[in-house]
Amino acid sequence: MPKWRCLVCGYIHEGENPPEVCPLCGVGAEEFEKMEEEDNSQPKETVVAGKIEAAPSMDKESALKHSLFAISYGLFIVTAHADGVDNGQCANTCFQITSEPPQIAIGINKNNYTHQLITKSGKFGVSVLNQQGHDYARRFGYSSGRDVNKFEGLDNVHRGELGILLLDDCLTTMEAEVVGTLDAGTHTLFLGEVKNGEVLQKGEPMTYAYFRATR
Ligand SMILES: Cc1cc2nc3c(=O)[nH]c(=O)nc-3n(C[C@H](O)[C@H](O)[C@H](O)COP(=O)(O)O)c2cc1C
Repeated sequence: MPKWRCLVCGYIHEGENPPEVCPLCGVGAEEFEKMEEEDNSQPKETVVAGKIEAAPSMDKESALKHSLFAISYGLFIVTAHADGVDNGQCANTCFQITSEPPQIAIGINKNNYTHQLITKSGKFGVSVLNQQGHDYARRFGYSSGRDVNKFEGLDNVHRGELGILLLDDCLTTMEAEVVGTLDAGTHTLFLGEVKNGEVLQKGEPMTYAYFRATR
């Protein structure tokens, strides 16, 4: 069966055709590239879990797209609360912008329910996953809060000072108020000023590459 790789998030789909929409990052079929059949006589020319395994010769357009795989990320549960509703999603795009004032940015697909709640409330929470956080990434990353209540049956959460649900079982949490947005086409970049931070555990953060290598 042919395999297709999402050039934005690395998701791999098996089928005769690419999916209409990437279930991970939400981009369309045009962002999927057909993967070559496995040929063990040649060195691998792909990027696996963020690691460049060989420097392949590629055309300019492929090189541009593949060069993005070498960017490293963490893995986070971004949460939001508006009009009495709680929701959250998995995100790898969360990064610190400034330390004074403490500001972070997140990249959120406009179709996501979390996007709707952040836009409405003007705030969001971030729980920084530990290296055992795979189940949280799956729970929050593979379904929409429009269809399921992702917090149902999840006891180990607490509400932060801004009223947003945060995970108990993670390294750190933050709550931020949105101070700026950038329209990035399919996504919005929310710039948030961090109002509260908690340190809950010792340990190493989950990286996106580690999640993909061990999921
Ligand atoms: C590992 C992983 C990383 C993801 N990173 C992002 C991201 O950075 N931004 C984004 O908008 N969606 C990202 N997603 C997809 C959302 O988590 C997913 O579309 C989710 O179902 C949206 O839920 P919602 O509609 O309840 O907000 C990621 C998913 C996974 C599994």
